[in-house]
Amino acid sequence: MSSSPPRRGEYGFDAPYAPLFMALGGACLLALCGLRLREGPGGAPMAHRVSVAGLAFGASWLFLNAGLFVYTTRVGKFAVWAELLDEIGLEGDERLLDIGCGRGAVLLMAARRLPRGRAVGLDHWSTADQSGNAERVTLRNAALEGVADRVELRTGDMRELPFADESFDVVVSSLAIHNVPAAAGRTKAVCEAARVLKRGGKLAIVDMRHDRAYAADLEACGLKITGHRSLGHRFWYGFGPWVGARLVAATKPTS
Ligand SMILES: C[S@@+](CC[C@H](N)C(=O)[O-])C[C@H]1O[C@@H](n2cnc3c(N)ncnc32)[C@H](O)[C@@H]1O
Repeated sequence: MSSSPPRRGEYGFDAPYAPLFMALGGACLLALCGLRLREGPGGAPMAHRVSVAGLAFGASWLFLNAGLFVYTTRVGKFAVWAELLDEIGLEGDERLLDIGCGRGAVLLMAARRLPRGRAVGLDHWSTADQSGNAERVTLRNAALEGVADRVELRTGDMRELPFADESFDVVVSSLAIHNVPAAAGRTKAVCEAARVLKRGGKLAIVDMRHDRAYAADLEACGLKITGHRSLGHRFWYGFGPWVGARLVAATKPTS
């Protein structure tokens, strides 16, 4: 387990409408359940009991999923990424790129580990994908975390990275590539990540979907897969491993 210093920045909520709709759905079912209880069983006590139990179960399920989603976005993903960054084994002088950095959850944790290096974040700042997402918010977080001197932000599309070939020692991306709607676009984003990685460099993609396609795309772009696994319950955006994030790690061979 990695020990990270306390966070001082504000990192918002991933896909903020998702837990909101889950909680609203739960509240509606709970209200219906209350209405049924007030109406009483009428002439069909068994049907009444079943409908009350069904509504109560549905409401609890939605509240549970909303709670787990919020836990992962506020706590779990930070804990898991701290461990992943430790696994990468940064020496402190690398040039690292975070694709779809948002408010800087991963970017700034990495920057803390790069006292002599540079952490570059690229995003197009979608507030549907992360609440309050904006370049100035990430810059403020960098200042609050005390790493502004080694952080650089770029606005752009991950399918067309504005960087030279082989210009980063490490490339990471967290919960970002699945937001590209078409498979061809995601392939482009993954191949761009491979293109800007230096020979001998390391790459880590964490995402909720499409991990097998990412691994195949990385191999097709000449990278060697070094890890492909589920990241456990701390990275579940709801109840169950099917809404959990997975890691695809790779290196670019030196020759
Ligand atoms: C769920 S947020 C995750 C942010 C951050 N990586 C984290 O873990 O907190 C997804 C991010 O991907 C960015 N994004 C989505 N599609 C993008 C694209 N085509 N190019 C650049 N950024 C993109 C969004 O703006 C958003 O900041």
